[in-house]
Amino acid sequence: MQQHNPTADTATARTALVVVAHPRPDSLTAHIAGLATRRLTAAGYRIDLLDLHAENFDPRMTAADLPEWGNREKTYSPEVENQMRRVLAADVIVAVFPVYWMQVPAILKGWIDRVWNYGFAYGRSKPRLAGKRMLWLGLAGVADDDPIVEPMQQALSTQLDDGIAYYCGLTRSTVGLLPGAEEKRQRLDAAGNLLLDEALTGAVREAHYAALENRALGFVEDFLAADRVPA
Ligand SMILES: Cc1cc2nc3c(=O)[nH]c(=O)nc-3n(C[C@H](O)[C@H](O)[C@H](O)COP(=O)(O)O)c2cc1C
Repeated sequence: MQQHNPTADTATARTALVVVAHPRPDSLTAHIAGLATRRLTAAGYRIDLLDLHAENFDPRMTAADLPEWGNREKTYSPEVENQMRRVLAADVIVAVFPVYWMQVPAILKGWIDRVWNYGFAYGRSKPRLAGKRMLWLGLAGVADDDPIVEPMQQALSTQLDDGIAYYCGLTRSTVGLLPGAEEKRQRLDAAGNLLLDEALTGAVREAHYAALENRALGFVEDFLAADRVPA
């Protein structure tokens, strides 16, 4: 589905590809994606919304997607060719996802594997994605002050910024990690037992999620501000 910003000059408006990777349309992840989309629209971006589940994107690499290393001009499967067109048309890419096992969920990983393919996103002397910018917004169930947050940020940044985006020639890539996504704070005790707090309710719950929304919007603001500075 493509969403157009009626106030933007469509001839000159830049495009943001917003990639959402959550099976439930009523998820917190989808809600944060909506907030980010509205902020990008207000900044003048034309939005191409790619909801991987809603579009039934198949994350499995197929034989048709496997690179023929010697042929630079090969065609990929029609589904992948279509996704590549959307990536090429985007000036910025914003992926919004729940953190699963300290990584992106399989559907988003499969999108990267299949679409950011050899001969397209890498393996060319002139990268086709050069100049694009990317923001990864990852929601995590872990509590904000859990000691795992810092290594999680490092792990995601190493995989997504260094391992994928910069390898493919993107100008800028940032991971905005949003811990505290779960209503019940959870942690492990020294014996490895899971301890679950009571679910947040009332004003405390509202304040908790308002703070998470603000952090998400802060990441989008910083991304837009950096966009205005020549790379
Ligand atoms: C398969 C799976 C793996 C998960 N792995 C992690 C994890 O490694 N670290 C973490 O903090 N939360 C983890 N979570 C919790 C999700 O990040 C959390 O439920 C989600 O961000 C909440 O947002 P949502 O309501 O949009 O799903 C995991 C959840 C699932 C279902």
